[in-house]
Amino acid sequence: MNYQNIEFLTSAETPVQCPPDIGREVAFAGRSNAGKSSAINSLTGHKKLARTSKTPGRTQLMNFFVLDDEVGRIVDLPGYGYAKVSKAVQARWQENLDLYLRSRASLMAIVLIMDIRHPLKPFDLAMLDWSSSAGKDILILLTKADKLSRNAAQQTAAKVRATLKQRNVSATIVPFSSTESTGQNEAWAFLDTIFDV
Ligand code: GTP
Ligand code: MG
Repeated sequence: MNYQNIEFLTSAETPVQCPPDIGREVAFAGRSNAGKSSAINSLTGHKKLARTSKTPGRTQLMNFFVLDDEVGRIVDLPGYGYAKVSKAVQARWQENLDLYLRSRASLMAIVLIMDIRHPLKPFDLAMLDWSSSAGKDILILLTKADKLSRNAAQQTAAKVRATLKQRNVSATIVPFSSTESTGQNEAWAFLDTIFDV
């Protein structure tokens, strides 16, 4: 599919504000500043579709984007584990994220974005275990791979693969870079299977 044909649909803070729960949706999740919004931009070939920032906590709402002929939606989720917002705000984000994940029938797959230099933090493991037990397909993009040598990137991917095997979680694991367009083909192939195109 041509992922360039994508448009911003709406933002939501809580599940009731989300668009109708029909069709197919794929959510990009991960720690704050991991590179979720950048990955969406790089996969869709748009520089500013999803807003990015050097400062963690840029994406504070769930942002919904609709693909080509409404074949599906991509969701940019707020990052978790952002320490600089108040505990109360963090708890509210977490609660809304949990509600969304649990209630959203159209959510087919999770794209988990992890900085390749800091993979598998506690929230990531929780997200993986939850996604797996909820029966969602999982794509792991180990992003910012341009910060490591090819060898080191492959080593990290192998370690992540081993940890997932131990936890009995199956996922597609891809070293990725939004700046150098590494891993795009594998990511598109995964999305194609989810959107059945
Ligand atoms: P929140 O919305 O705050 O949760 O962050 P996010 O996960 O959406 O991260 P975002 O895409 O805003 O990127 C965070 C920072 O990482 C920005 O400064 C990006 O330019 C940088 N970044 C993202 N992806 C890459 C990458 O593949 N390589 C490099 N070198 N930098 C990246
Ligand atoms: Mg973001």
